[in-house]
Amino acid sequence: MSQTYVHGYHARENERLQDQAGTLVDLLHSDTAYPAGSTVLEVGCGVGAQTVTLAGRSPDARFTSVDISAHSLAEAKRRADRAGLTNVEFQLANIFELPFTAESFDHVFVCFVLEHLSRPLEALAILKNQLKVGGTITVIEGDHGSAYFHPDSAAARAAIDCLVEMQRRAGGNALIGRELYPLMIGSGFDAVRVSPRVVYVDSSRPDLVDGFTRKTFTAMVEGVRESAVVAGLIEPQNFDEGIHDLYRTTEMDGVFCYTFFKAVGEKKPG
Ligand SMILES: C[S@@+](CC[C@H](N)C(=O)[O-])C[C@H]1O[C@@H](n2cnc3c(N)ncnc32)[C@H](O)[C@@H]1O
Repeated sequence: MSQTYVHGYHARENERLQDQAGTLVDLLHSDTAYPAGSTVLEVGCGVGAQTVTLAGRSPDARFTSVDISAHSLAEAKRRADRAGLTNVEFQLANIFELPFTAESFDHVFVCFVLEHLSRPLEALAILKNQLKVGGTITVIEGDHGSAYFHPDSAAARAAIDCLVEMQRRAGGNALIGRELYPLMIGSGFDAVRVSPRVVYVDSSRPDLVDGFTRKTFTAMVEGVRESAVVAGLIEPQNFDEGIHDLYRTTEMDGVFCYTFFKAVGEKKPG
């Protein structure tokens, strides 16, 4: 089954995901480490932005990283090779038709993937089936409704709403972060813990101003300009005003906040 995917597979998207991964590594991954000898299934690895961090931080765990895009996988493999990783195997696979036997992994990792799926609950249930009893799943997702900023701007909020709506029309959910707890419980995971990871950006943190507010969040919203205008969601000048106002938050007196949600759950017997 192929999924419509709002962010696309273009070079700019690859660059955005890499900037995002580089800037947010500690915030998202500092508490993730896999024991020596354990097997980890990463689904929707994309261009390997998270893979390189995960596999580099757990060098004695064995990763199987899958994606539905052969093009992204090729780039992920190049990145893993450049990083000198020998503990990752990449494989072309669809979450909904995984080619592995049940209960074959100790851990599962999913980042920024459920937001693009029309059936996230079903995907989680499939991933639970891939886990051995006692295994864990880690899921990281954003939530575009968590963006707030200074100076506030109705135009900026309208531009963000266009991204949320375009993702909804593509079958996804850009507000999924807030739903991780019910989704994990609903798909049968135990001991579920969700922690919000707040990115706070002001001009005293120039790396985040550039790497997150500009190159990650605003670039992502800008990416739907054409499709949102063609869909009649917004007038081009209003969208452009919103983008201008998002960039305005990167000036000396600007502030930008966004929350990611990280969920960990276990597969208990029964
Ligand atoms: C936003 S990217 C995230 C990539 C990576 N996890 C990261 O955090 O940088 C979403 C990825 O999910 C993949 N994807 C979407 N639907 C999929 C499916 N049904 N099966 C496998 N991968 C899928 C896309 O090809 C894309 O690479």
